[in-house]
Amino acid sequence: MKKLMEIMAEELSSAFEKAGYDPEYGKVTVSNRPDLCEFQCNGAMAGAKAYKKAPFMIADDVVEYLKDSQVFSVAEVVKPGFINLKVKEEFLADYLKEMAEDPKFSVAQAENPKTIIIDYGGPNVAKPLHVGHLRSAIIGESIKRIGRFVGHKVIGDVHLGDWGLQMGLIITELKHRKPELVYFDDSYQGEYPAEAPFTIGELEEIYPCASGKSKEDEDYRNEALEATHLLQQGKPGYMALWNHIMQVSVTDLKRNYDNLNVSFDLWKKESDAQPYIPDMVQAMKDQGFAYEDQGALVVDVKEDTDTKEIPPCMLLKSDGASLYTTTDLATIVERMKLYEPDEILYVVDKRQELHFIQVFRCARKTGLVKEDTKLSFLGFGTMNGKDGKPFKTREGGVMRLERLIADIDQEMYSKIVENRSVKDKDATETAQIVGLSAIKYGDLSNQATKDYVFDIDRFTSFEGNTGPYILYTIVRIKSILNRYMEEGGSLEGIRMLPAVNSSQKNLMLELTKFGATVENAFEEKAPHKICAYIYEVSNAFNSFYHGTKILSEEDQAQKESFLKLLDVTKGILETSIDLLGFSAPDRM
Ligand code: ARG
Repeated sequence: MKKLMEIMAEELSSAFEKAGYDPEYGKVTVSNRPDLCEFQCNGAMAGAKAYKKAPFMIADDVVEYLKDSQVFSVAEVVKPGFINLKVKEEFLADYLKEMAEDPKFSVAQAENPKTIIIDYGGPNVAKPLHVGHLRSAIIGESIKRIGRFVGHKVIGDVHLGDWGLQMGLIITELKHRKPELVYFDDSYQGEYPAEAPFTIGELEEIYPCASGKSKEDEDYRNEALEATHLLQQGKPGYMALWNHIMQVSVTDLKRNYDNLNVSFDLWKKESDAQPYIPDMVQAMKDQGFAYEDQGALVVDVKEDTDTKEIPPCMLLKSDGASLYTTTDLATIVERMKLYEPDEILYVVDKRQELHFIQVFRCARKTGLVKEDTKLSFLGFGTMNGKDGKPFKTREGGVMRLERLIADIDQEMYSKIVENRSVKDKDATETAQIVGLSAIKYGDLSNQATKDYVFDIDRFTSFEGNTGPYILYTIVRIKSILNRYMEEGGSLEGIRMLPAVNSSQKNLMLELTKFGATVENAFEEKAPHKICAYIYEVSNAFNSFYHGTKILSEEDQAQKESFLKLLDVTKGILETSIDLLGFSAPDRM
């Protein structure tokens, strides 16, 4: 379906042409004087020089051809030569009706659907999810949903961090605490126990303890490095421990992501890339890309146009151990082989940008990807506290994700209970749904690349640009529609009548922008554009609601038409929040 903007531009272009001017001048923009008109065309101003004519004379000629337009109710010239435009109410109603007949509200579907892998989440096994992992999960999930909605094949991969030093640290600490475990007995030949020698709670205590020790004690750190290396070489006892760590933590991670309404198609991990490393490294050597530098194996990735120094990409350390770069490169090899993606998008903290510049350049240079395979990095900013520093607990520690969610839910619960008398159990569930909207909208409404302040008070407010406000609007619409249905009403075959007042028309105009908004949000990987859009729609709806009698409207056809409009508004808002990764309750 053509966009309203396109249809209007076509009308204008054709009028310019008929009046003897270049149709190129027929561009239409949103009015910057909403008190005077809805849209405007500045083409006559732009053409004045070329035609050596006063702009208003050109504009006068053009509007002559817009008099019988099916699209505009007003097309008038304002000096010095603007063409002010208003859309015909009948046209708008028909347009919206057609748009609403499509379950996707006429969002254009990709002509050449692409296979896109999104690498997001990126938690590290055995470390509890903390707020630092929140943004990747929220943003990645939303982009995945938007990508699918516009027709691409999108594969979400959690890419677990399971192969780095943290594993060696845990193994080392376990060895210190329980040296008698069979995993540490090199002569042990039997089967390893099926049960893990620790719980998730213990695991989460072991890691920070080991990490702290390694910073102070060099021998301890070396031991952990050695353990990491042995694990990567497949030492049986360590592999068995690794399996336990994986099982215990993945179960916990899945539960956490479920709570966030985030789900992955693939639960691949860094270690899955291990089998691809030897051949990849060999090929890079054979092709002459990889060379030894102070014992380490590296590939140069700097380019002449660089303005800052891009250090060589390190493949293997002098002891032969692989690094974060190595697994990321080998993961690209694996992904190309298994999924042949057209694009791989990484949603990772922007502080890792240099790493990805190195990895992408190395992958391209050494031919790991095809020439037209896109490798993109969406680096997000930091989630800060009100003090402008990375978000912490009140005591100054790392904020666990579970704790953050619980705090928000608690806050939402008090607000909901304060607001009305919903039964307790109901309120707990509602608080979780609304709480999630507060977190996700609070995050997604900011441009991903920017840092933002996580402000619980603001994010949980029912007023202003917040998730709860959007949900409140949806709930309001649902309750009106429900009342109508309870009275035996139906929305089947209802006609959408032209707008009767300016707030209704404004709402209808806002709704028509859905397609362009979603398409653009995907193009630019910018969920914040959907947030900005639904905030506008909600505001437009609420002013329509406050100024118009809906259920008490006496003219039945008019009332039904209002309800149809409510239904479309609800559909567009609910579809939008689904793209953002949250949902609305039935009541609040
Ligand atoms: N586990 C990593 C971290 O916590 C993030 C992984 C991002 N993805 C990737 N392919 N490197 O920093």
